Amino acid sequence: MTETDANTKPENAPHRADPLLSVDNLKTHFPIRSGLLQRVTDHFKAVDGVTFNVGHGETLGLVGESGCGKTTVGRTLLRLIPATSGQVTFDGHDVFRASGSELQQLRRNMQIVFQDPAGSLNPRMRIAAIVGEPLIIHGLIPNNDKDQLRERVETLLERSGMPRAAADRYPHEFSGGQRQRIGIARALALEPKFIVCDEPTSALDVSIQAQIINLLMDLQSEFKLSYLFISHDMAVIQHVCKRIAVMYKGKIVEAGTREEIIENPQHDYTRSLLSAVPEANPRRTKQRFVYEGGAM
Ligand SMILES: Nc1ncnc2c1ncn2[C@@H]1O[C@H](COP(=O)(O)OP(=O)(O)OP(=O)(O)O)[C@@H](O)[C@H]1O
Ligand SMILES: [Mg+2]
Repeated sequence: MTETDANTKPENAPHRADPLLSVDNLKTHFPIRSGLLQRVTDHFKAVDGVTFNVGHGETLGLVGESGCGKTTVGRTLLRLIPATSGQVTFDGHDVFRASGSELQQLRRNMQIVFQDPAGSLNPRMRIAAIVGEPLIIHGLIPNNDKDQLRERVETLLERSGMPRAAADRYPHEFSGGQRQRIGIARALALEPKFIVCDEPTSALDVSIQAQIINLLMDLQSEFKLSYLFISHDMAVIQHVCKRIAVMYKGKIVEAGTREEIIENPQHDYTRSLLSAVPEANPRRTKQRFVYEGGAM
């Protein structure tokens, strides 16, 4: 099935008619510089014409090998990296043309949880400041009232499975899983509608991965969140996402429902990703298949 079909088939349709997020023919090309003068001699097509939708309350999985452009897709649609071309529409707003209060509103509603919780939290800031910062920047605490801010931060920490007292400590005092919970609390602070979850569990121990995934799924149903869930791990994607887009070398090569992708993969690269998923039943063995490129 083509990606367009996957977005329009009635059983895959989101709860509301319009998708929350539409990404249309998105391209992000990075300049390649060379020579003494570091002139731009070519471009690296990290994202090269990507189209997909995310419905209200839906999780779309974006899966593909390291370097295929997943993070670049996520960062470009959040305007953290400039797009080369294409269009992103969020809740009826043109993301790339928005400015002023419209852009501020979009930034509130579109958040990201990063892969590396250690690197994404400022080591010199206390957790209270890290989680409270977005609230202050967006002016959401009347008169910057300290007690109100503190209460809001502690509630966010608690909801993310952290003790309230964590607010007074620094990131290095916590484990990887706890730091990811803090990153999630910060992403939730502005009550967004949509979160890019960029490999939120791949830096964590296997035992902790499930806890973080369960937290994200609980928060999704509680706050009606939509996710773009990015991972190189098809096993995680299968568990979390009912609809999956498979990315290879800057393009989406296949998209469909979880069942379609698992039971009837159309692309050899998808088959190679699926063959790497461990078999739950040890008596059944799976033949490992490695895709080495070719016609797409
Ligand atoms: N700022 C940049 N300048 C130049 N090239 C970049 C830049 N950012 C990313 N790239 C390149 O774009 C390609 C896609 O990178 P990206 O980080 O999006 O991949 P990814 O699919 O998220 O990989 P991973 O699974 O390892 O996180 C890579 O080859 C990367 O080296
Ligand atoms: Mg990445």
